[in-house]
This record gives sequence, C-alpha cells and structure tokens, in this order.
Amino acid sequence: MVSHDFVTSHRKTYDSHYSRKSIEHDSFNNAFRTAATELRIQNVVRFPTGCKSLDNLLDGGIEAGVITQVYGPPGSGKTQLCNTLCVLLPSNYNAIYIDTEGSFRPERIKEIARTRGFEFLQRILVAKALDVKELESRIEVACSKIDLDSKIKLLIVDSIIYHYRAECAGRSKLPEKIQRLNKYMHLLLKTASSNAVALVVTNHQTQSSVDGAHNRVVPLGGNAVSYASKYRVHLDYRRARLDLGPCPPHDISFAINERGFTDVADD
Ligand code: GTP
Ligand code: MG
Repeated sequence: MVSHDFVTSHRKTYDSHYSRKSIEHDSFNNAFRTAATELRIQNVVRFPTGCKSLDNLLDGGIEAGVITQVYGPPGSGKTQLCNTLCVLLPSNYNAIYIDTEGSFRPERIKEIARTRGFEFLQRILVAKALDVKELESRIEVACSKIDLDSKIKLLIVDSIIYHYRAECAGRSKLPEKIQRLNKYMHLLLKTASSNAVALVVTNHQTQSSVDGAHNRVVPLGGNAVSYASKYRVHLDYRRARLDLGPCPPHDISFAINERGFTDVADD
C-alpha cells in the first residue's frame, strides 16, 4: 500500500508537472509571436479625418486599435475633426460618440455628410455625459458594447478631461483624478486594442514651464492620458501638429467649412 501510494502520488506529481509544463508551453505560444510574424500579420486599418494632409501626417489616417489624442484651445477644431471622422467612417461600420461638453450637433453632422455626398445614416450612437460619474459609466457601457459588436469601429470621447477638470480640481483631488483617469484610459486602450477600434479622445491644453524658464503648451491629464495615447495631435490656428507618434514632429494646415474638417485647398 505504502509503495502503491508512493507510486501514485509520485505519478500524480510527475503528471501534474508535465501537464502544467504543457499548459505553460501552450499559453506561451499563444501569447508570444516573433517580431517577424507580427510584422507579416499586421494589417493596420486607418480611417480618414477629412483632411488629406492630416491623414498623411498620421501615415494614412486615424489608426484602429490604438488611442489618438487630439488637444488644443477652445475653437481649434477638435469637435469638427471628431464630427468629420464619424461621417467618413466606412459605411459598414458604426461609431459611438460620448459628448461631455454638449457640443455634438446632429445638424452639423448632417451638413458635413450632405456636402461630402454621403447620406445621413443612423451609424452614430451618441450619448451625453453630464459629470464624471456619467462619463465613467458611459465609457464602461460603450466598451462592453464594443466587445460584443464588431461593427463598431470608432469610439470618440469629446472631451476626456472636461468633467475631471471641473470636479477634481485642486491639489487635494489630484491623486484621485490621476487614478480615475488612469483606470478609464486603460479600459479604453484595452478595448481599442482587443477590438481593433479607432479611439479618439479630445483634451484641453495648459501652459507648462520647463526648467522654470520656457512656457510651452501641454495637454492636460498628464501621463494618465499621454501614456495611453499612441498619437497626439495638437490643433491651433488651423495648424495640426503631430507631437507624439512614429514620425518626427511636423505640422500641416487645415480648414473648417461646410465640409467639416478639411484641406486648405478645399476651403
Ligand atoms: P472646444 O470644444 O471649445 O474646446 O473647441 P473645439 O476645438 O472643439 O472647436 P470646434 O471644433 O467646436 O470649432 C472649431 C471651429 O470650427 C470654430 O471656431 C468655428 O470657426 C468652426 N465651426 C464650428 N461649427 C461650425 C459649423 O457648424 N459650420 C462651420 N462652417 N464652421 C463651424
Ligand atoms: Mg469641442
């Protein structure tokens, strides 16, 4: 009995050792690919912004699967860019638009669609978020919906910062603001990446002193927003500058008219 027990328990240990090894082996192979394979299977989808110069700056448009942050002062064109992106989304896809500033105007979408020769389609699912709690709840339900609905290929949050800025102002609230922003930027990034969805968040800007000497314009939300973003586009005075992305910083001109966000030549 003793020896049988010993053999059995030894066998169990031996078997579990090898089955654990094979699980580890399987999950390693599932999780990791060589860089060469990754390059071969990479099929990056990009969506047009309405402005060819900006599309070129972004290597073909807004990339699916990652977060693009668009920031700038009031009136710089952030919302117009988001509106135009929705209109130009390929007709087999849908968009979700979370509007925190009450600036979404369906009649503007209709105008951009009409002047660009598109029908005003029922492809944009829009929700307002009136405070931080509502924004976080909208982000959660939008991400759950995207996980279930492969037709949704664009998620816009215009803007990500507005309510945090108002409700979590002051030094004492800063750690809470950073923690909450981090959590929701992480959820957005995970959703974008696992569903190949183009995620666009708009952001406000502020002045920051570098080494106490020079003032420069920086996006709000600090690293919480910037680390999650693959691309960061700064808009101001009808110029767009890619200040975070695979290409060196460079800027282009754009226009805003009845066609929405567009090239200067179309103005
Ligand atoms: P905030 O949300 O205030 O931070 O600004 P924003 O960067 O989102 O600016 P937005 O995109 O709303 O507006 C940019 C500019 O677009 C405005 O200054 C207007 O000149 C122009 N614009 C806004 N709405 C319309 C419109 O319906 N028609 C036309 N032709 N231009 C518009
Ligand atoms: Mg706006």
